Amino acid sequence: MRALTAITGFKDVLPSESPLWRLVEEKARDVVRRFDFAELRPPVMERLELFQRGIGQTTDIVEKEMYAVKGRGEDENFALRPEATAGMVRALLEHHLHEGGRPAKIFCLGPMFRCERPQKGRLRQFNQLDVEVFNDPGPLADAEVVALLHTFLHELGIPGLSVSLNSLGCAECRPSYRGSLVAYLEARSSSLCEDCRRRLQRNPLRVLDCKNESCREAAAGAPVLSEYLCGACRDHFGLVLDSLASLGVPHRRDERLVRGLDYYTRTAFEVHSDMLGAQSAMAGGGRYDGLCRELGGPDIPAVGFAVGLERLIMLLQQMSPPPSPGPDYYLAALAPEALGPAFLLAQRLRSLGLGVAADWESGSLKSRLRRADKARAARVVMLGADELAGGVGLVRDLAAGVQKKIPLDRPDLFALEAARETGAPEETGAPVSG
Ligand code: HAM
Repeated sequence: MRALTAITGFKDVLPSESPLWRLVEEKARDVVRRFDFAELRPPVMERLELFQRGIGQTTDIVEKEMYAVKGRGEDENFALRPEATAGMVRALLEHHLHEGGRPAKIFCLGPMFRCERPQKGRLRQFNQLDVEVFNDPGPLADAEVVALLHTFLHELGIPGLSVSLNSLGCAECRPSYRGSLVAYLEARSSSLCEDCRRRLQRNPLRVLDCKNESCREAAAGAPVLSEYLCGACRDHFGLVLDSLASLGVPHRRDERLVRGLDYYTRTAFEVHSDMLGAQSAMAGGGRYDGLCRELGGPDIPAVGFAVGLERLIMLLQQMSPPPSPGPDYYLAALAPEALGPAFLLAQRLRSLGLGVAADWESGSLKSRLRRADKARAARVVMLGADELAGGVGLVRDLAAGVQKKIPLDRPDLFALEAARETGAPEETGAPVSG
């Protein structure tokens, strides 16, 4: 019978890769804590309508990329979340997290699902760190989330980063821009792809983001939004840029930047890396002051971003991968009667918080040392007939090659030994050679 494989675009994170994942997730948690964000864990499945209303009916995500799930009931239409923001807003409103007069600052970490054509850096299940601030209309909130994102990527050592920002205007000023853009594009509609011709009336800003060569050429001379911004939007954006400059966050203004989701107002931004190739966007976000109302809540200003963890990990893997630490001890039973004591010792050491590897079979010293090496253990505990008779384990520091005996009924001494750096010289007493 043919062995089953994972679904295309859905990937296993292998044991060899998970240390890097842990590193990235721990850094994410560390940085959001420093910026005073609390974790919210929304479910991965929501009502389909939430995404249709939230992200926009004419976006690629809603039109082509959603994993819709039919519930048991007649009108139960659900979807795996393609992004976190709509669910975060739904949860905020449902649990009244925005009440209390303070900004609500929440993040979530977890998998998103988009049925896109898989390629390098583009998966159908991928993970995001999603960060959102509600109830803060000011430009400093925009600058703060960009600074958080920059801190996160910078502290992970991601090279070749560029932060691009644009202002997409608001309900006041965008309609007049939209009118001019539609007039401009209509005059060139024969050069537009089928998707863009369809988008022209419903979502003309998306035409500016089309990757099709003839659409790009047609849009090259299109009016730019910055010339249509109202005074309030212009001031807001100016302050965002000034604040980033004062923090020393490198950034540039990109008047052509539009986003693939419809909810943005005013600031929109993306972070790209020149080391990522075609899928170079590592993170994206912006302000979305109208979304809470769109989803049935009051007017609550909001700003946030999401960063794709797979793309980050891909970059970190291209750089020098950090050595992943192995267990503190490998327990080597050198005789069958040592298996029982080794099993007991493993449990005692693990309860003290130590990492212990073992194969529950006995074998020659040479074969056990090979296994210890494979497990990347820092030290081996050898348990042969002589050690059992003396009630001790013979501990070898694999980096230094030195050995010492430790009584089997003193797990605390094993813990003390494990706390020493491997290969470090003894502080007191000479090592006992075995
Ligand atoms: P987004 O630009 O659609 O924004 O996604 C953010 C990031 O998720 C991308 O820059 C990319 O790194 C990663 N990503 C997206 N699709 C894929 C994929 N198929 N495979 C791998 N990685 C992917 C949002 O999702 C918004 N919710 C961001 C936001 C939060 N705006 C305001 N708050």
